[in-house]
Amino acid sequence: TAPQCCELPHTPIVGGSARVQRQGQMLVYQCPAGQFPYPTPIRECRSNSQWSPLRAPGGRPLAKAECRAIQCPGPLEFDNGHFHPRQPRYNISQTLTFECFEGYTLRGPHNRTCLPNGKWSGGTAICDDGEGQCPDPGVPIGATKDGQLYRVEDRVRYRCGRGLVMFGSKERTCQESGAWSGTQPECRDPSTYDTPEEVSSAFIASLSETVEVDRSSGGAENVKRKIVIEAGGSMNIYLVLDASDSVGEGNFSRARDVLVQLIEKISSYGVFPRYGVLTFATDPHVVVSTVNAQSSDADWVSTKLGDLKYESHALRSGTNTKAALEAVHNMIIEQEQDEIRKGHKVAPVANSTRHVLVLMTDGNTNMGGSPMPVVRQIRELLSIGRDIRNPREDYLDIYVFGIGAMVNAENIAELASKKSGEKHVFHMQDIRDLQKAFHDMIGTGNPGSLRDPDLSPHAPLSLQRPGKGLESCKGALISEYFVLTAAHCFDIDDQAHWITVDVGEPDAGVLCLARVLWSHPQYNIGKLRGAGIPEFYDYDVALVKLTTKIKFSFNARPICLPCTEGTTRALRKPHPETTCNDHKRLLLTVGEVPALFVHEGKKKLERKHVNIKNGVKKSACEADAKKAPIYANVTDVKQVVTPRFLCTGGIDPVVDPNTCKGDSGGPLIIAKGKRYIQVGVISWGVFDVCKAPSRRAPAHARDFHLNLFTVLPWLRDKLAEEELGFI
Ligand SMILES: *[C@@H]1O[C@H](CO)[C@@H](O)[C@H](O)[C@H]1NC(C)=O
Ligand SMILES: *[C@@H]1O[C@H](CO)[C@@H](O)[C@H](O)[C@H]1NC(C)=O
Ligand SMILES: *[C@@H]1O[C@H](CO)[C@@H](O)[C@H](O)[C@H]1NC(C)=O
Ligand SMILES: *[C@@H]1O[C@H](CO)[C@@H](O)[C@H](O)[C@H]1NC(C)=O
Ligand SMILES: *[C@@H]1O[C@H](CO)[C@@H](O)[C@H](O)[C@H]1NC(C)=O
Repeated sequence: TAPQCCELPHTPIVGGSARVQRQGQMLVYQCPAGQFPYPTPIRECRSNSQWSPLRAPGGRPLAKAECRAIQCPGPLEFDNGHFHPRQPRYNISQTLTFECFEGYTLRGPHNRTCLPNGKWSGGTAICDDGEGQCPDPGVPIGATKDGQLYRVEDRVRYRCGRGLVMFGSKERTCQESGAWSGTQPECRDPSTYDTPEEVSSAFIASLSETVEVDRSSGGAENVKRKIVIEAGGSMNIYLVLDASDSVGEGNFSRARDVLVQLIEKISSYGVFPRYGVLTFATDPHVVVSTVNAQSSDADWVSTKLGDLKYESHALRSGTNTKAALEAVHNMIIEQEQDEIRKGHKVAPVANSTRHVLVLMTDGNTNMGGSPMPVVRQIRELLSIGRDIRNPREDYLDIYVFGIGAMVNAENIAELASKKSGEKHVFHMQDIRDLQKAFHDMIGTGNPGSLRDPDLSPHAPLSLQRPGKGLESCKGALISEYFVLTAAHCFDIDDQAHWITVDVGEPDAGVLCLARVLWSHPQYNIGKLRGAGIPEFYDYDVALVKLTTKIKFSFNARPICLPCTEGTTRALRKPHPETTCNDHKRLLLTVGEVPALFVHEGKKKLERKHVNIKNGVKKSACEADAKKAPIYANVTDVKQVVTPRFLCTGGIDPVVDPNTCKGDSGGPLIIAKGKRYIQVGVISWGVFDVCKAPSRRAPAHARDFHLNLFTVLPWLRDKLAEEELGFI
């Protein structure tokens, strides 16, 4: 039974505004940028129909809330050195300078600056004499430390100053490895939020890349951890999404899309975990169970997640994290039983599977009771922390993303894993910041303003022969130095330095000069002239090497080539087991293969979706080549349509758009999720639709593309130094 609604207070907040949320049960204060609501961002409606009282961090009652300037907390303790200036709190952009007493060496920064979100730049400054078996763990700003001995098994305990919330470990133990257990604590003001930049770098570092443990955080040098699936091991990733009423439909779908991107990112590392997807409000709802055979099919899971409706929860008033974690616990047990039924001898899920939980919430994670007992149950189930010599901490990671003022920072900090040099808890101001963090992380940038990934390899080429007009072709960026294009764009005696390549944004791109031009050695346009066939496009492929290295950006990114490790990852197949033939089988399936090419319209790049005819419709497609004006003398179509071409165009099964002369040299692309693989180079067509007065193409308008699978030895040879990871 919810308490009766409270009324909006007469003076909501000095210098800011207030909103009532959660059906009148929560009062949320808002302040202008650079300020925060003091003493609290939220008040709850109590059973006496009064808002929870306002109290200063010391407990003293306050008459009204006010917006205060964001400041950084001051150091409470600094061992073996001194710092200046000394103040209780610091204004944004103020600098703190640290110095050590003689005999002590400074680890960490000499100067730290107060950042706009109320955090200090850099890591903790520590004055260490190097005497301990573990390095001096230091005292983070805003904290005090108990424990001065740093021998194996010694402990240090931390407390945060008044009004500050601890993220990280309250207690750390010096381990035999010479590293401290847990993660360095951080004492934050409850109004401090992580910026998207901080989240994307810290989360991705922790999740997937190797982490160079910052020496100041008390870790051993260069401890590296990576999400790797060991041979015989496997990984489960549980995506747990808050769907309570405070989230609202718009924000729910944003959070859901962020998780879809996360799946994409994980697949791009060539990791193929099983996914569990749950939403929760008052009750949990399992969307995808790890028991499901398709739970390791990232595309399928993404689709299930993408189709998820906010309305699927009937009771949504609470944020019952405990119940959500219980559902994860049950899923692990169920999967275990399922595997054992299938004949596995040892506990495969509890013993050799790594479990990664990603929880997103905007509410009070402790509604329904503290979830910590369930975390302990899961740890118990996975035998974590039982054996000191083999604590198995790697087998469970809990990441928590708390969004907005209603999140209790202390609760999410408690729930998240604490690991040396890593960050598992993030408190962000709003969902837009979370979206931005994931966009940064995934490298798609800000959608809309930047070029889409299938357009970014687009590289127009211009050829300026001395005394002649400018000619143009298209190409695709395939590495830092190379652009792949068609050989027919050039004459045999063309010089590389006559070619310029435009990389990046249309009109604002980077012009690069070519250094080397290699056409395929078997390309010979005049080969069949003796038979009355004026042009012959077999092996119509060329590589242009640039004089300068291209700096990849959102607008200039390379496309994947077939038979490279990148494509294995894009296809979500294991490396190195996946072969070049597998790529061919998976990309050029029998039948109609959806593909796309990019057409540069008036100041705009347009995607054109076509079907490669690779089944019963292939011979009809190829037969239309005889209708090309230049091939009037062709008797057998196989003379000009060699096995090196892919055929698109026509009206069967659907009308395909056609290429124009200016599209020559551009890539024919197959999309796999958000990854793009080039399978062909646009070579020649039966009918130039751009020259037709009506711009209407007849049914026999077909296009031919050089099939890259047929020129791989040449590509491998010429691109040997590009580290494209050819398989
Ligand atoms: C901090 O800012 C306040 C006003 O915002 C100002 O009165 C005070 O002098 C500043 N303190 C320092 C040390 O700059
Ligand atoms: C630290 O800041 C002081 C001024 O506050 C400056 O003089 C000094 O050069 C800085 N030192 C470093 C290492 O940046
Ligand atoms: C999303 O959440 C923000 C607060 O983080 C809120 O201001 C906004 O109204 C919400 N949007 C929707 C569509 O619910
Ligand atoms: C996990 O596997 C190890 C051997 O790798 C074995 O000693 C241990 O008993 C197993 N634990 C469980 C819970 O099955
Ligand atoms: C066909 O061949 C004849 C004789 O070789 C030649 O004169 C004619 O130009 C050719 N037609 C085309 C379209 O090339």
